[in-house]
Amino acid sequence: MKELLAETAARAARYVTGVDSRSVMPSADAIAQLRALGGPLPEGPSDPAQLLALLDDVGSPATVVTTGGRYFGFVIGGTLPASLAANWLAGAWDQNAAMQVMSPVAAKVEEIVREWTLDLLGLPPNSGAGFVTGTTMANFSGLAAARSAILQRAGWNVEDDGLFGAPAIRVVVGQEVHVSVLRALTMLGLGRSRVITVPADGQGRMRADALPALDQHTIVCMQAGNVNTGAFDPAKEICARAREARAWVHVDSAFGLWGAVSPLYAPLLDGVGDADSWAIDCHKWLNVPYDSGIVVVREPEHLRRALSWGSAAYLTQSAGREPWQFTPDASRRARGIELWAAMRSLGRSGLREMIERNCHQAQLFAQRLQAAGFTVLNDVVLNQVLVSFGTPEDTRRVISELQADGTCWCGGTVWQGHTAMRISVSCWATTDEDVERSAAAMIRIARSIRPI
Ligand SMILES: Cc1ncc(COP(=O)(O)O)c(C=O)c1O
Repeated sequence: MKELLAETAARAARYVTGVDSRSVMPSADAIAQLRALGGPLPEGPSDPAQLLALLDDVGSPATVVTTGGRYFGFVIGGTLPASLAANWLAGAWDQNAAMQVMSPVAAKVEEIVREWTLDLLGLPPNSGAGFVTGTTMANFSGLAAARSAILQRAGWNVEDDGLFGAPAIRVVVGQEVHVSVLRALTMLGLGRSRVITVPADGQGRMRADALPALDQHTIVCMQAGNVNTGAFDPAKEICARAREARAWVHVDSAFGLWGAVSPLYAPLLDGVGDADSWAIDCHKWLNVPYDSGIVVVREPEHLRRALSWGSAAYLTQSAGREPWQFTPDASRRARGIELWAAMRSLGRSGLREMIERNCHQAQLFAQRLQAAGFTVLNDVVLNQVLVSFGTPEDTRRVISELQADGTCWCGGTVWQGHTAMRISVSCWATTDEDVERSAAAMIRIARSIRPI
């Protein structure tokens, strides 16, 4: 075991230190080689050292280098050194984080991270938190709490009696709602098509002046950080309106809430702490390994009730916080450990510096591309940049040639009718030099397609 782990550590270190010189996308040949991992399942055991060598020799070249400094697709973070190392140790511990009695360390670390997260993001300090796979499940869990609370107020117990015959719930979303919210509504039996949709402005912000009348049967799903533009719905107005009407506000914030750690970006989030539930990603901007997200609910009881299992004689209930009561799953890995390592290694100032650096780098991209004559379609308020290289066909060609070039990786989108390339700067490892090199590749390719 000891030699195997030492050899694996050496291989992993080689991978990590080699990413900077690799093409961001694996070659077609590397992908084709993956067939070596298949074939019929061997009849007998394989030597662990040999299979590890095979996995590294064949698997590593077929990875997408999302941990390096030049991956700008979707919204994908890398992994901070302390967090990766903590992930290894946690792997060796193999703790089941469901219950205190199964893992005192996992339970304690979750409690610490809950407090640190609420403090960092300016959320109510007594909120409940569940450690889930990402924002999709955090949206699901937060909206489950909302559904439970609203129906409880109406005298209905949705956990016992389900939705058949239940009082109606209204769900309000913005025009640029993220699909994961709609997916969560689908899974919760609230329906993705019966939502009331509020128009958005040119940056994708829900227009508070166009909100419908709210009441105590309404859930308003607002967004903090649009996946395309990075824009924030006006939390102050939305939460004030909801408060008056006793409506529930859920905040979908995969990455935007991390802006709260910087005085430069916190004003964009003004009022967001007045909501009732929040969905946050950690595998994006906190730069911990996949998968990791947090659901936060102002009144923990709603989250606990919504996700409770009923009872089984063999399950323990201690005096303190039981992790399983705040997540949809039972057995799960101890995600809190990597969060603890990330937060502790950066500290408040390190986290602020990382967020500010990525936002500054998004500005740098915008400046370089605009100076070269291309159109930036959004106000670059955070870490997201949308750029058009001319006609929709030109832009699509630039994206596809850039992806093939391998210097960096960006994906595409259609933003309010305009075909665009998305640049998301979310990785701790990105340097200004990475940005300059990537911007130069974009400009070179775009000019080769459509000389300016
Ligand atoms: C605003 C928003 N919500 C939800 C999600 C989904 O997050 P996850 O993939 O972690 O489930 C994203 C992903 O980018 C997002 O930007």
